[in-house]
Amino acid sequence: MKNRSIYGKFCKISLGLLLVLTIPSAKSVAAQKADAASGQKIFVKNCQKCHDQDGSGSTIFGKSLGAADLRSAPIQKKRDGELYTLIEKGNKNMPPFDATLSNTEINDVIAYLRELAKKQPDGKKQ
Ligand code: HEC
Repeated sequence: MKNRSIYGKFCKISLGLLLVLTIPSAKSVAAQKADAASGQKIFVKNCQKCHDQDGSGSTIFGKSLGAADLRSAPIQKKRDGELYTLIEKGNKNMPPFDATLSNTEINDVIAYLRELAKKQPDGKKQ
């Protein structure tokens, strides 16, 4: 009997520790989302050939595949989570990136997509 209650206490303590340890790490994952500078590098390497430098999708390759204008309202309206799934899983001619990019890299590239829209809201190249 005595042993069991010690075990119970141990479980409660470890559960408490687990909570304390997981909450701050969830916060730091969210903080990493904002690295648009790293996202730009990832974009140039992985996305630009279809989506173009400015995200407009006007490369020959992008046009022939029907690549979306990433600055457009229908795409920018999507939440980060939706964009994440699209990039991870792909959609029609959009290839999946789950094998190529890490979670952090996908989050960085999303941060960069938000920057692209802010820089060129009129859809013109710089
Ligand atoms: C091989 C060409 C190609 C590459 C490389 C590519 N895309 Fe796409 N992407 C497309 C096409 C084509 C579409 C339009 C898909 C469709 O038909 O709905 C698209 C659509 C999208 C959309 C909008 C999806 C939707 O359905 O609204 C996002 C966001 C996107 N791409 C992000 C990216 C990012 C970020 C990268 C790089 C990590 C990338 N793409 C690389 C071709 C590409």
